[in-house]
Amino acid sequence: MKNRHNVCVVGSGYVGLVTGTCLAELGHSVVCVDSDRKKLAALKSGRVPIYEPGLEELFKKNIKAKRLSFAGSIKEGMNRPGRRAEVVFIAVGTPPRDDGSADLSAVEAVAEDVARNLSGYTVIVDKSTVPVETGDWVSKTVARFNKRAVPYDVVSNPEFLSEGSAVEDFLHPDRVVLGVTSKRAETLMRELYAGVDAPVLVTDVKSAELIKHASNSFLATKISYINAVSALCEKVGADVSLVAQGMGLDKRIGPLFLRPGIGFGGFCFPKDLEAFYWIAKKKGYDFSLLKAVKDINEHQKTWVMRRIEQQLWNLEGKTIALLGLAFKPDTDDMRFAPSVDIVRMLSERKVKVRVTDPVAMERARALPEFSKAVFCKDAYDCVKGADGLALVTEWPQYRKLDFKRVLKLVRNPIVFDGRNLYDPEAVRAAGFTYCSVGRPDR
Ligand SMILES: NC(=O)c1ccc[n+]([C@@H]2O[C@H](COP(=O)([O-])OP(=O)(O)OC[C@H]3O[C@@H](n4cnc5c(N)ncnc54)[C@H](O)[C@@H]3O)[C@@H](O)[C@H]2O)c1
Repeated sequence: MKNRHNVCVVGSGYVGLVTGTCLAELGHSVVCVDSDRKKLAALKSGRVPIYEPGLEELFKKNIKAKRLSFAGSIKEGMNRPGRRAEVVFIAVGTPPRDDGSADLSAVEAVAEDVARNLSGYTVIVDKSTVPVETGDWVSKTVARFNKRAVPYDVVSNPEFLSEGSAVEDFLHPDRVVLGVTSKRAETLMRELYAGVDAPVLVTDVKSAELIKHASNSFLATKISYINAVSALCEKVGADVSLVAQGMGLDKRIGPLFLRPGIGFGGFCFPKDLEAFYWIAKKKGYDFSLLKAVKDINEHQKTWVMRRIEQQLWNLEGKTIALLGLAFKPDTDDMRFAPSVDIVRMLSERKVKVRVTDPVAMERARALPEFSKAVFCKDAYDCVKGADGLALVTEWPQYRKLDFKRVLKLVRNPIVFDGRNLYDPEAVRAAGFTYCSVGRPDR
């Protein structure tokens, strides 16, 4: 293949492993590095340690084709015999600190290690989501530890994939953003993405960094906006799904991300929103809109609790069945999942909690909030003896729930639909009291 490159991806999590696997699928020779020994052992034994549709197939195919391999150190990953890495991706975590700022210590550690192992011109790509000006810091760090003055460029290439459709999103994105400082780096990056059919936007590094934070915060704003509208709908007896439909028909608004629910979670929106607010403040701008977006989301996370209180009077000793735990369907990711807050709130009120999820139970079991929860094999097992059923994650299998069967299993036929998944008339016709977000109860 023309313009096939040797690539090293540092950090083999949701983003790094998908990036590495997809770049291998595009024909490049990729080594994924991770410092987590357990994860590395799984990868080396041919096992995908996360759940992501379509990933396992590409992973196995590219290992077999010898385009994808794994290493436990940056040194090993960057200097494979005869295949020196021309591009190194930084795809490590950038978790939130207590004050909301992004913890960039893993990015700094990788930049230093990469600098120590440079042996020829290398493009160092920041794929992790980082605050504006991180590229400058990465560049300064590399310069400090690059004792032999090997030439390099730092590029910002933010990732927009969503968990649950990560492979599809990587290979067919809406856009590829390249924040570059040289034509040489731009050419190499364009060659890397040559097999991806998407518009390429080339910018300076700071603008690329801002595109990522601004995009995620805008999407979070859209969700909080419709959730705020849903709260008003509940107060006046209007139907938010009709309001959203009417808004979404306006081409300037569009229908996507106008679905009300129990708030956004996951590893990206909450932390990116906070980090964007924090960096703006540090730079002297009070981005107060983002504060309001966060506050609305925090309030929305109490929706299930508030509705249960309205319907069940005394909560102590009652049983609630939660369907879905992952922060969204088609992922096993439990980071900042609304289910964690809901289970914590229910447990504080001494409610017995039964839970189920098609793939996220193993990760949930490891969380202290779930220590008293009863894990059930499927939705029907979960609703047994329940005083209420709360739909938390809209997995496709829950869409087809047989409510006649559920009616025979529950103690009290009430549905709290936190994702407005069900047709209100159909659930009511099956004999349930039905509560959904921003739509009248009956
Ligand atoms: N998860 C998403 O949907 C998503 C989407 C777009 C962007 N992002 C961003 O991408 C970045 C990575 O997110 P993720 O979800 O893949 O995180 P993750 O926690 O799943 O993966 C990070 C990996 O990096 C490894 N790591 C940490 N320090 C290391 C080091 N010094 N050397 C080698 N490996 C190291 C960890 O062991 C872990 O496996 C974050 O900045 C995130 O905000 C995430």
